[in-house]
Amino acid sequence: MEFKIKTGDLSRHKTPCLVLGVFEKRKLTPAGEALDKASGGRLTELLKKGDLDGETGRTLMLYDLPGVAAERVLLVGCGKRKEATRTNYRQALAASIDLLQRTHAGEALSTLAEAAPEGLSQYLAVRDAVTTAAERVYRYSQTKDDKQAPKTPLRTLTLWVPRKQDLDAAEQARLHGAAIGEGVTLARELGNLPGNLCTPSYLADQARELAARFDRLEVEVLEEAQMEELGMGALLSVSRGSRQPAKLIVLRYQGGPAGLRPVVLVGKGLTFDAGGISIKPAAEMDEMKYDMCGGAGVLGAVQAACELELPIHLIGVVPASENLPDGAANKPGDIVKSLSGQTIEILNTDAEGRLILCDALTYCERFDPALVIDLATLTGACVVALGKHPSGLFTPDDRLAQELQAAGDAAWDRVWRLPLWEDYQTQLDSNFADMANVGGREGGAVTAACFLWRYTKKYPWAHLDIAGTAWLNGKEKGGTGRPVALLVQLLLERSGALAAVA
Ligand code: BES
Ligand code: MN
Ligand code: ZN
Repeated sequence: MEFKIKTGDLSRHKTPCLVLGVFEKRKLTPAGEALDKASGGRLTELLKKGDLDGETGRTLMLYDLPGVAAERVLLVGCGKRKEATRTNYRQALAASIDLLQRTHAGEALSTLAEAAPEGLSQYLAVRDAVTTAAERVYRYSQTKDDKQAPKTPLRTLTLWVPRKQDLDAAEQARLHGAAIGEGVTLARELGNLPGNLCTPSYLADQARELAARFDRLEVEVLEEAQMEELGMGALLSVSRGSRQPAKLIVLRYQGGPAGLRPVVLVGKGLTFDAGGISIKPAAEMDEMKYDMCGGAGVLGAVQAACELELPIHLIGVVPASENLPDGAANKPGDIVKSLSGQTIEILNTDAEGRLILCDALTYCERFDPALVIDLATLTGACVVALGKHPSGLFTPDDRLAQELQAAGDAAWDRVWRLPLWEDYQTQLDSNFADMANVGGREGGAVTAACFLWRYTKKYPWAHLDIAGTAWLNGKEKGGTGRPVALLVQLLLERSGALAAVA
């Protein structure tokens, strides 16, 4: 999908569809008022008929508005102006895209950025419009004939801004929003692919394809033999129970000056998690194809950084494996030795994410990172604690916590911090190894983070538990692409790209 930015006289703008926001009760935005004037008051006249009050997400299509060059005018309810929230705003944006997809317009000029809540920068108002549009037009189609696909999909969306001096910020928003949208789409698509197609080898191939597209991106895929040589006993113990060989995917983007320390993103790439010998119950087990969404998020964020040519060094690391029951699989009570040298008693083979992550995290030491963020669909306990709205954030570093929280708020891909305290560490005590891989029922998301903490002492580190946010279930089942937007926001901020606009 293509995005453009525009300012100037709205009434004379030729477009298949012009999108206008309407607040409750029937209050026009400045753009709407200008068009009302151009149409000789026809807009207010039509609104008086009462078919659209301005309730968030309600829409009304108008044709042949006099004095207006646009073929159609789409009115979109934006809620109460005084109570406008970002959620409201994004709902209105989504509703406008959904309706456009059902018409024959194919192209539109949207003025909805004017209806953004007070306090949201012009930059973020436009970026929300871009990312929301990218999000709504995405449809999964790789393994099914999409019979409900729009006949005339929305191909071009032009965002209108009221003032010339807004053009620079809007242009940045278009650029950044499009890259975020494509990164999110990549992550969603990989997440949605079934486990029989999206295997560790498939993820490695995707990383290779990504690297082929960008000059400054290189890929290296470590095979099991190399991991064996290095001593990644924890990671390899998980893939031993599967016929698919594990891969350790390493993507290196060099966009910054020599000597700059890299940001490293580590994503759990469990392409299917049956639980292993500690097998999961059958209900909803299909959703464990999404257990690679951390890895997919890494690919999405790396792609966006490359597309934006950010002046930073970024490394993506994706340990990829399946977790299945098999004669060679981990058994409860087994003890493995991790790359760090620490031994682990595997009391539950379903706590496999931390086993593949701990070796990947130790491997990261060699990059002398400025920062390591891991993203993982790590625990059901995190979903119980926080529900499906924020990702769980864990870090011993208060400033880093603030940075991530702020990035999540700005990108509207929010996180909520949970405690990472030494007090919980005793729950991982084992009589037979340096630690157990599970810490009992209490605080399961915290003890999982505490486990990873033991492997990340040599660099600044944060852990995002995305078990509740990486995909939706029920009727809307599908990957969300989270937390790509948050990660790209953080990278944009670290690279200084937002100084002029935010
Ligand atoms: N991939 C799962 C976590 C998960 C479960 C994410 C449900 C989203 C929804 C992870 O590998 C896992 O199985 N974790 C266990 C840990 C437990 C055995 C300590 C869990 O959460 O039950
Ligand atoms: Mn598991
Ligand atoms: Zn898992």
